[in-house]
Amino acid sequence: MIGKRSNAAKTTDTVGPASVVGPKHVAIIMDGNGRWAQKKGKIRTFGHKAGVESVRAVVRFARQTGIESLTLFAFSSENWKRPEEEVSVLMELFNLVLNSEAKRLHKNGVRLKVIGDLSAFDSKLVGKIRKAEEMTSGNNDLVLNIAANYGGRWDIVNAAKEVAEKVKQGEMSLQDIDEAVFNQHTSTASLPELDLLIRTGGEHRISNFLLWQCAYAELYFTDVLWPDFNEDVFQLAVDDFNVRQRRFGLTGEQIDTASS
Ligand code: IPE
Ligand code: IPE
Ligand code: MG
Repeated sequence: MIGKRSNAAKTTDTVGPASVVGPKHVAIIMDGNGRWAQKKGKIRTFGHKAGVESVRAVVRFARQTGIESLTLFAFSSENWKRPEEEVSVLMELFNLVLNSEAKRLHKNGVRLKVIGDLSAFDSKLVGKIRKAEEMTSGNNDLVLNIAANYGGRWDIVNAAKEVAEKVKQGEMSLQDIDEAVFNQHTSTASLPELDLLIRTGGEHRISNFLLWQCAYAELYFTDVLWPDFNEDVFQLAVDDFNVRQRRFGLTGEQIDTASS
């Protein structure tokens, strides 16, 4: 099984064109909005607003290419430390996009989920998020996860607390805890394993994104700034993923044998 998901272009067993096993779950660190705006002599928030169009493009691309799950890093638990003005524009933008896009996502068969510590958000915003999640809950063309006030360490600590609570309540014993059980308590529990993590904006770091989930994800870094990201750049990342050999600790020969 490991080999089956590991590699590049694979021909099907039946006669026909070669089919490519692409990534099922892709996550993107949407970075570079501020620099994009500043390069144009504008204020940073201009870049955040422009970045919304790239979000539309990646959702479209994911739907069209059969990606099952797309997780976008919109606001990190550390981003609160930015100037108040920038944080408030980002919150406003989140609100506006939720208002304008929820119905469209629903119409397009997209299931929306917001992951992160929502306790820090305004209760009206949380209400809107829950409503949009509920409305789209029956859709299965694509799961779109928006990570907001998300931190990878928070996710792990939160899962640990939930597991500890179950042990405390006697619903589970220490021996029952393994990686699969723990995973069920992370914010990506219901999703396929993370296959590909893309970061735009030129930095080569994870910035406290999906730490647990990145264990065997393929990483792809591009200098393209988020507002310039589009379907073509996304395709380049997927093409790169598709020619990598994912070994999961095995040897290349083992993978070749398993997939031949
Ligand atoms: C990413 O772009 C968006 C958020 C973090 C909300 P940045 O705002 O980090 O843009 P740069 O990295 O400063 O250019
Ligand atoms: C990561 O980008 C967070 C998001 C894209 C939402 P940052 O711009 O906050 O990351 P650092 O500070 O450069 O590591
Ligand atoms: Mg940045």
